[in-house]
Amino acid sequence: MIKATSLKKSYGETLAVDGISFEIAAGEIYGLLGPNGAGKTTTLSILSGLLKPDSGSVTLAGVSLEGEERKAKGLLGVVPQEMTLYEELTARETLLFWGRIYGLGGKRLDERIDSLLERAGLAAKAKKRVRTFSGGMKRRLHLLTGLVHEPKALLLDEVTVGIDPQGRIALLEIVKEVAASGTAVLYTTHYLEEAEALCDRLSIIDFGKVLVEGTIDELVRSLGEGEVVSLTGSFTGESIRRALEGHDEAAILSLEDGAGLLSIDLSGPDVFRLLDSLFGKVTGVEEVSIRRPSLQSLFLKLTGREIRD
Ligand SMILES: Nc1ncnc2c1ncn2[C@@H]1O[C@H](COP(=O)(O)OP(=O)(O)O)[C@@H](O)[C@H]1O
Ligand SMILES: [Mg+2]
Repeated sequence: MIKATSLKKSYGETLAVDGISFEIAAGEIYGLLGPNGAGKTTTLSILSGLLKPDSGSVTLAGVSLEGEERKAKGLLGVVPQEMTLYEELTARETLLFWGRIYGLGGKRLDERIDSLLERAGLAAKAKKRVRTFSGGMKRRLHLLTGLVHEPKALLLDEVTVGIDPQGRIALLEIVKEVAASGTAVLYTTHYLEEAEALCDRLSIIDFGKVLVEGTIDELVRSLGEGEVVSLTGSFTGESIRRALEGHDEAAILSLEDGAGLLSIDLSGPDVFRLLDSLFGKVTGVEEVSIRRPSLQSLFLKLTGREIRD
């Protein structure tokens, strides 16, 4: 439904998007997960036709964004990172405004707006001005502005930033319903937990490149069956490597001087010998943490850092 092929985009010296490709099926929620500056918004701006890529192409339902821009854009709903709401309009007027922009009107638009407001828990607030809304209500209304014309492809850019936990859940539920009705959804976020809870498949991106792509299960399984053990301190990478020699129940996920990420089967018969070797022979281990394989540990492995705001 949404197909991006080898997208590239630079701003002057900054290579913001460096060869990103993916394909999103109808009904699928596809995540672009990456830290600030990774290239998410730039990718989304290219998909929405706001920004021309330096190279690469986009098709929506087989319609080329370049060749048949009007037709492609009609299939598309976009909810940008910055909220574009007019404080003096009511919730209903806001959606009427967007409906008219998409060329809708009459009874059909009225009914559509009623059902959207209902679905987002905003029916009782339909006639209230946006400026009286809480942050969470504004975020939900903002999401609805991209849904008025029942798009076949929906692009969402960090739509939960600054929202409270309950508001977040309500908003993600709406996204799930939209996908369940057959819309292809691109969901960008820098929140690992959201990607984990929401996305059928995702890419982890950084510096404009896809680092890995897959379902959550596939990505987490790529870390192995064991626990993920993270070591930091003043040790050398070489000393860790030596301590692990002959221990098949341990694998190195990433390793440099002072920072190591290992996968260790802690239920294995030889685990005490392994730990003896690791902590007996290696000097300078200052911190140890152990966790189940997760997107978070995968992210740490790929980028050498935790994802943060
Ligand atoms: N309009 C712009 N002019 C110059 N550099 C930009 C512009 N927009 C984004 N960038 C740079 O491009 C990179 C990717 O940014 P962006 O796509 O906004 O990332 P994300 O949405 O993942 O935070 C960053 O290094 C950012 O500073
Ligand atoms: Mg962004």
